[in-house]
Formats: sequence, structure tokens, C-alpha cells
Amino acid sequence: MTIKKNIRLPKSKGIETATVYTPDECLKKIKHIVLQANNQQIVEEFITIQNMKAKFEEADVPIPNKIVMFGPPGTGKTLTAFYLAHRLELPLIVVRLDAIIHSHLGETGSNVRKIFEFAKLAQCVLFLDEFDAVARARDSIDEVKEMARVVNTLLQCLDEFQGNSIFIAATNLEEELDNAVWRRFDTRMNYALPNKDELGLFLTKLIGGSAGNSALIEQSKELLQGCSFADIEQIILKAKRRMIIEDSEWSYEIILHGYEAYHPRSLPSERQAVGSN
Ligand SMILES: Nc1ncnc2c1ncn2[C@@H]1O[C@H](COP(=O)(O)OP(=O)(O)OP(=O)(O)O)[C@@H](O)[C@H]1O
Ligand SMILES: [Mg+2]
Repeated sequence: MTIKKNIRLPKSKGIETATVYTPDECLKKIKHIVLQANNQQIVEEFITIQNMKAKFEEADVPIPNKIVMFGPPGTGKTLTAFYLAHRLELPLIVVRLDAIIHSHLGETGSNVRKIFEFAKLAQCVLFLDEFDAVARARDSIDEVKEMARVVNTLLQCLDEFQGNSIFIAATNLEEELDNAVWRRFDTRMNYALPNKDELGLFLTKLIGGSAGNSALIEQSKELLQGCSFADIEQIILKAKRRMIIEDSEWSYEIILHGYEAYHPRSLPSERQAVGSN
């Protein structure tokens, strides 16, 4: 790990403002990851550039280091942060929003600054989930004017964010992000519910791709259209639990039972839209 012993994570309200995962710990989380084609391409290019820093510096072309991920819940934004940290062999620093956000907003700004300072000193992937909580459009903030100052602090931090660390922000409320904040990102990743192929690939990873499973996967793809990856994972888990209780094998009935027991929240209209692509 590159984090040196003498560089400490900042604390707030008596607790550390982030959780650290080593690249090996990150690997454990990403076993079943399915990266959508557009995002796979972005990630590969991003990593290629990180490994060609000298050439980019020579050509005086800035190296991307700020990624914003947006899209519906359960589509793999957080998972991609783990994936990137693992691929870049850097520790992942997951910011704890509950520790950062303070009822005294001046404190919130100062916590944001401290965590960026930390990432400047220790090479890492700094990940801020639910980014909208600190980066809301300044004109939409009705509660307190002071929140706008948090956004200003964030803008400064983003502008000053140079060196070898990577900053990743994720949100499912991208339309609420402040425009100026949005512009600071050099890399944008758009997430969506899985299409049929991605669904099939994910199911294969979860239940195994033996020849005997292929008809089951085809049938289940129809059932699960419109569900997020996170929904599908929960449905398959429910099915697995039932299999253990009943001492049975994979079957469509078992998956259907998992589906009915889980009650995915996506609407029929969304399910239709995804099914058509
Ligand atoms: N693309 C994916 N490939 C494999 N598994 C996924 C994917 N997306 C989500 N999952 C599963 O769903 C769970 C939630 O995913 P994740 O936290 O990455 O979603 P998210 O997009 O960050 O959602 P949120 O917007 O709610 O934070 C993960 O633990 C993972 O197991
Ligand atoms: Mg997330």
C-alpha cells in the first residue's frame, strides 16, 4: 500500500472520515462485475493513460484524474470504484458522508478540504458516493446559503487536485449537480439498467455457465428485464437460499420464487423500455 504510516485520515466528530480498502480487499468485491461496454472502454482508456504518464507529460497533455459516475441505483457505480482501485493497484479511500457532513456547514467545507488534502499526500483513489449531497446546484439550495460555500470549497479542491491520486464521485441525481462542479470532471461514466446481453452475462456469473443452465438463463433473462444488477443479485440470493433449504437444483421455479419474494421496484413501463433494446 502506498499510504504512508505518518499520513493519517482526517477525523470528524471523533470518527475517521473515510474507510480504506487495499487493492486486494477491492478484488474480493468485484468478482461478478459486469461493466457495460461504454464504461469498459472508458475504464480501459483511463488505465492506459495512467500507465503512460511520462508520454502525456512530455506532450504537455493533461492526465485525466477526476471521474463522475451517474445513473440509476444498483448499476455498479460503487463497484467500479473498487474495480479501478484494484486495477490501478491503489488503496481505495471511501469517504464517509455521515462523518463529513456537519450541522455546522463551515465544518462540512473544512472536512471536504481535509479529505482532499489527504488524497494529495497519499496516492490513492478517493471515492465520494452520493456526491449530490455536497455538490448541489447552488441556485437550488433553499435551506441555507452557506451550503453554497461548501460547493465553492469543493470547486477549489477539484481545481487544486493534482498529483498521482484519482478522484471519483458518484450520484444518481446528476441533474441536481452544480454545473460548475460538473465541468470540473474530465471523465464521465453513464450507467444504465442491464440490457439482455448484460443480464445474461451477469446470470452466468452468478449461477454458472454450464450447458445445463443455458435454457434456464435464457428464460430468466425475460423475467428479470428491467431489474438492476443489485436487484438481480438479491433475487438470485433468495433463490440460492431456497435451494439450500429444499436441497434442490437450479430451476426456473426457484428463480421465479426469488423474484416474487424480492418484489423488484422497477416499474412495468421501465421494464418495457429496457426490453426493447
Ligand atoms: N455492473 C454490475 N456488475 C455486477 N454486480 C453489480 C453491478 N452493479 C451492481 N451490482 C451488484 O449490486 C450491488 C450494488 O451495486 P453498487 O453499489 O455498485 O451500485 P451503485 O450503482 O453504486 O448504486 P447506488 O446508486 O445505489 O449507490 C453490488 O454489491 C453488486 O453486487
Ligand atoms: Mg453507490
